[in-house]
Amino acid sequence: MRARRSCLAVPGSNPRFIEKAQGLAADEVFLDLEDAVAPAAKEQARENAVAALRDGDWSGKTIVVRINDVTTQWAYRDVVDIVEGAGDRLDCLLLPKVEDASHVVWLDMLLTQIEKALGLTRRIGIEAQIESARGLVNVDAIAASSDRLETLVFGPADFMASIGMKTLVVGEQPPGYGEGDAYHYILMRILMAARANDLQAIDGPYLQIKDVDGFRRVARRAAALGFDGKWVLHPSQVEAGNEVFSPSQEDYEHAELILDAYEYYTTVERRGAAMLGNEMIDEASRKMALVVAAKGRAAGL
Ligand code: GLV
Ligand code: MG
Repeated sequence: MRARRSCLAVPGSNPRFIEKAQGLAADEVFLDLEDAVAPAAKEQARENAVAALRDGDWSGKTIVVRINDVTTQWAYRDVVDIVEGAGDRLDCLLLPKVEDASHVVWLDMLLTQIEKALGLTRRIGIEAQIESARGLVNVDAIAASSDRLETLVFGPADFMASIGMKTLVVGEQPPGYGEGDAYHYILMRILMAARANDLQAIDGPYLQIKDVDGFRRVARRAAALGFDGKWVLHPSQVEAGNEVFSPSQEDYEHAELILDAYEYYTTVERRGAAMLGNEMIDEASRKMALVVAAKGRAAGL
């Protein structure tokens, strides 16, 4: 599994941002050809993305390109030009506005054709954005639609527009909703579909880029449920994202302790359950500890 605690959005039309992104500590960078790029700049953005993939230093990062959605006139050429131009450098394509499993199947087939034609040996993965009512209703079929899929990504801005949520502040609770979390159902629905198919789940952007505390608050909500990471739009959000989606040092050390203790009790003492301080641990505790330990190790704790 690739690390995706922080997934940095970089407009393909902005060479300066593309240059800068290479020096940031984001786990993933995606070069955007979709909504951050004006229609008149789409072709130039494609060319910039190919050049950036070929010449840039993306080592240590997951490198992704977001193409335009399948209903547009740009989508097929995005795939052909990016993969023919730099497919050997690309980890995944990010497909926005996925509403039906057939959208992913289309991209899977096209990738297979181009990979065969070019003799590419490294298989390109797919990330699917869920950002409409229709996408959410079909999310189980979408999540099971291709073995290239690596992650589902929530697109809150398009989603809020799609359902008519009564707010313009992406990711924040709509005024008048009261105490609960208006996003809980959506996030949980995406997370279940992802986990049922061994995929990662990524939360979308927080647009108030000056408000890092707000970013942290919204990111913690997704991290608490089990999400693997979140989009970041600005360098100030990168560190916060990496921190929120890593376990705390304390939780990490506790998880390693559970794993060590469990190993000892089951192998040396041949017991299935045992006490660690005041806490009873068994096989299920080991599984929980493994998740935290794996995330902690990946974060270099
Ligand atoms: C991202 O694409 C969003 O719509 O929030
Ligand atoms: Mg969107």
